[in-house]
Amino acid sequence: MAVPGDVVQKTKALRAEIEHHNYLYYVMDAPEITDQQYDQLMRELIQLESTYPELWTPDSPTLRVGGEVLAIFNTVRHRAPLLSLDNAYDAAELKTFDTRVKRALETDRELEYTAELKIDGLTVALTYENGVLTQAATRGNGEEGEDVTGNVKTIKSIPLRIDTGITRLGVRGEVFIKKADFEALNLQRDRIGEPLFANPRNAAAGALRQLDPKITANRPLDAFFYDILFLEGTQVATQMEGFHLLKECKLKINPESKLCQGIDQVIAFCEYWTERRDELPYEIDGIVIKVNSLSLQNQLGFTAKAPRSKIAYKFPAQQVETIVLDILVNVGRTGAVTPLAVLEPVKVAGSTVSRATLHNEDNVRDKDIRIGDRVIIQKAGDVIPEIVRSLPEKRSGNEKVFTMPQVCPECGATVYREPGEAAFRCIGASCPAQLREGIIHFVSREAMDIEGLGEAIVIQLIEAGLIHDVADLYRLKYEDLVHLERFGPKSATNLIQAITESQNNDLSRLLFALGIRHVGAGVARELADKYGSLERLMEASNDELTEIATIGPKIAASVVKYFSEPHNRQLVAKLKSFGINTSKTGELSNIPQKLAGKTIVVTGSLASFGRLEIEETIRKYGGKAGSSVSKKADFLLVGSDPGSKLEKARELGVPVIDETEFKRMLE
Ligand code: IVH
Repeated sequence: MAVPGDVVQKTKALRAEIEHHNYLYYVMDAPEITDQQYDQLMRELIQLESTYPELWTPDSPTLRVGGEVLAIFNTVRHRAPLLSLDNAYDAAELKTFDTRVKRALETDRELEYTAELKIDGLTVALTYENGVLTQAATRGNGEEGEDVTGNVKTIKSIPLRIDTGITRLGVRGEVFIKKADFEALNLQRDRIGEPLFANPRNAAAGALRQLDPKITANRPLDAFFYDILFLEGTQVATQMEGFHLLKECKLKINPESKLCQGIDQVIAFCEYWTERRDELPYEIDGIVIKVNSLSLQNQLGFTAKAPRSKIAYKFPAQQVETIVLDILVNVGRTGAVTPLAVLEPVKVAGSTVSRATLHNEDNVRDKDIRIGDRVIIQKAGDVIPEIVRSLPEKRSGNEKVFTMPQVCPECGATVYREPGEAAFRCIGASCPAQLREGIIHFVSREAMDIEGLGEAIVIQLIEAGLIHDVADLYRLKYEDLVHLERFGPKSATNLIQAITESQNNDLSRLLFALGIRHVGAGVARELADKYGSLERLMEASNDELTEIATIGPKIAASVVKYFSEPHNRQLVAKLKSFGINTSKTGELSNIPQKLAGKTIVVTGSLASFGRLEIEETIRKYGGKAGSSVSKKADFLLVGSDPGSKLEKARELGVPVIDETEFKRMLE
């Protein structure tokens, strides 16, 4: 159906009008119409676009409600690495930075610097091509990030197009959630029984990394932009001019940025905001200082990690006073029994803190921390809060001295202290706390990464008698879960699927997940690389292990001891009997590369593969799992309830196959 000319015009006008009001509301904080009037405009546009799908464009504001659900994020390589910054912690270090810069530029003259608030959020890099937002990526490891374009398009303060005649613009900014929006979000989550976010930064990270952009669209994300990464079609000479350009592009810039003459003005700015950071509606964790002139920035160049022309001043750790309500002991997966302070909840550095680890008995004694004491706690950025000192001068006399229990509070076994170690350990072989913590560790993100299996569910499964060790997870069936509290058909299916998918994890994950003492994620990767299979590692001797440069005698002894214990060997055998992969995934590649050079896109649900599983299978057989249908796709693999991809494939003439045909291709 041809689109009438007036409809085309109307659509264009509506889009421009909606974006104008978005800008007024989300960037300028000065709306001119009511929410209802805005909704009415949006409804009209949605109506037109659904009647005439040909009208759809990648910069339509209707994308702000969230587009297609992804199976995984694609990886994108940044045009130039997104570096990080060196840090300065006080005025003296800022002066050293200034001296270093002047020396490198061979000048004695005072330099112009910009001082900018360091927003505590997540870096995003946006690309606008011919005015249209074409890509948004996370920083990732600096070289490669994740493609979060669909999610970023839902952030209303970010323009989907810029009308300034700039042909290419790359811009770096920070996505964040305002303090008040964060509080409201947590309140709402609490009401529906969802776990709370620890701080606005975590909430923003969670929102930006949603595979379903509709969820992102419902989270109150905002963004400030501060660095131009690349620019074609015009030029700027200074950081300040860059801000003006960004402003012209209607990208939101932080209003507090200041041009400083010399480092003393910079230091004054840092001191000012150290005192007043709490008054801001969003979290900041420091000040970023940059040489204003871009040609001087170029002249100064970079070290391996950071530009020499910029530095981050990090605020000192925040300290607040609170009360130790109780001291409990916590039994970890290795049996370590550690004291834990229960605190009267206080806000510090963006989070509400109600617990602090006390590490060990010596620490409690050395700092003389008693139950009932007023104490000073400290928290810096993402670091775990700690008790700095107690305030004995504020004691009433009713405080109680803490002593380590002689027996494990969870299983009653003896608690002993190994000579030369600060930690106490429970010797109970079947201590429920160790079992529980071991399973929680096994399923955690860095270990087997089983989504949907949080602490509460692990406890529930143990209490229901469904799991007695980590291998039992792989015995679980849909029927075991579906009738449990907090489960329904969908969550039961998802969990079984996530557990099944974890069977194919790389050996390094499994090794870390087993919880062998002293084997962290890094050591696990090292061991997986060196040995290639669990079977080979299990036979390794002490001497052989210590030949690896990074494996010391302590780690080697621990690995040998772990695999010499019959019940650990039995556990490994049990895991293997459930089909858990015990090899380094890269080494599985005697698999025939039947799909080499082929891009396969999947839509709908498949009978014998989960979402991630099918993509992994495609990759294992040498193919590429595409995320959207384009002419480049070789096949569309269709399951039941296919989405709009099927129509698109037919339109583009991409061959459509079903699961049976796909399996035949692998034979
Ligand atoms: S400039 C080459 N400016 O702080 C690095 N960063 O440790 C350029 N950040 O990863 C970064 N506000 O996520 C810069 N006004 C600002 C910033 C800022 C927040 C974050 C950013 C960066 C980290 C630096």
